[in-house]
Amino acid sequence: MNIGIDKIAFYTPEYVLDLVTLAKARGDEPDKYTIGIGQDEQAVIPNDEDVVTMGANAARQIVDDQERKTIDMVIFATESGIDNSKSSAIYVQKLLQLSEFVRTIELKQACYAGTFGLMQARDYVAAHPDKRVLVIASDIARYGLATAGEVTQGAGAVAMIVATNPNITLINDDSVYMSREVADFWRPVDRTEALVDGHLSTEVYKEMFLTLWQRYKNQTKHSLNDFTGFAFHLPYTKMGKKALDQIILEADEAQQKRLLNNLIASQQFSRHVGNLYTGSVYLSLLSLLSHSKDLKPGEKVAIFSYGSGAEAELYSMTLQPDFRSSIPAASVAKQLSERQQVSVAQYEKIFQSQLLDSHVDVIRSATKKHHFQFLGWQNGERQYS
Ligand code: HMG
Repeated sequence: MNIGIDKIAFYTPEYVLDLVTLAKARGDEPDKYTIGIGQDEQAVIPNDEDVVTMGANAARQIVDDQERKTIDMVIFATESGIDNSKSSAIYVQKLLQLSEFVRTIELKQACYAGTFGLMQARDYVAAHPDKRVLVIASDIARYGLATAGEVTQGAGAVAMIVATNPNITLINDDSVYMSREVADFWRPVDRTEALVDGHLSTEVYKEMFLTLWQRYKNQTKHSLNDFTGFAFHLPYTKMGKKALDQIILEADEAQQKRLLNNLIASQQFSRHVGNLYTGSVYLSLLSLLSHSKDLKPGEKVAIFSYGSGAEAELYSMTLQPDFRSSIPAASVAKQLSERQQVSVAQYEKIFQSQLLDSHVDVIRSATKKHHFQFLGWQNGERQYS
């Protein structure tokens, strides 16, 4: 059965920080950030946004009245959830005015959960071919001011509709995956910033990619020449290159060149947004499909999803005949270019001004006409418009 991504959309907040400016403020060489890490800009998250608003703002771009009638399940992947009990998917269901006769659920396993959600959606549609599933991956990557991880912060959401006979890609049934308890990155429930061993996390990511690549080749008999490109989870864009460099010599010279060009295509959007945690690998896919000049229908792209803690999955997607016309390349580029630059001082002020105390009733008025907003708290409940 042909099942895969029928629609895809991306959203990130309207503020952005230039990383050359941040490097200078932190006393670092700008090249370390732009070349060594591979990031030019990062999203700055105002306190009227959270994972719910970003997820709903992404999904609203692909949910029309027809979808409202057909979406049967909402899967919301995040590691920056806003409640220990209630799912972000329920808030999204309300904001998007979806039917009450849907299943709604939130998933967590670091940056990996978006992929688990996509696989659940595919399997559900395989069992119920007339159903459509909305999968949202939404996160805020937050490490703290003047920490080593600061340069790899970011935020945003990717929303996808999974259905039969999809317009964009087939999700192939060729996954290999693994889980291993590792203390590379985690966030205890009483902390707003992650704890991370950045160098360990980079090594575990590389090792899991290599292990799964060998396993994938053994199980599927595919080789590097069978792929047009890779979409990697990109905590920072250099990470994709570190992973691919481990296997690139398995391809002939022409194929090496093609894979490296397409790696650059897959990194473009992330360079300007930063880490999206759960959504990052699908922003990388969207960037690849938006920027690569040589992708052809019927070709395969490999997807490598990594979540600290740690869990990883490697699988492939097949490009559909008319995939280009369903990719929102121009609107994502427009969204990124229209963001407002903030200074380091403004960024630090925004960073420290989260509305976290649910005991204090605060309600601001809505200021945005076309976007969902977090307004504040009433009786401990989050309020949105
Ligand atoms: P650091 O220690 O500040 O940086 O932290 P560094 O000293 O390792 O330098 C970084 C690179 O810049 C190096 O290149 C330097 O050589 C280079 P590399 O050896 O890695 O190729 N460099 C320069 N290049 C050009 N000109 C210069 C210059 N100076 C240095 N002048 C680190 C870097 C990524 C560790 C840090 O930012 C961090 O901890 N980030 C957060 C953790 C992270 O992103 N881990 C990635 C893998 S884990 C993952 O992906 C999961 C995650 O998304 C969470 C989840 O699953 O939920 C994080």
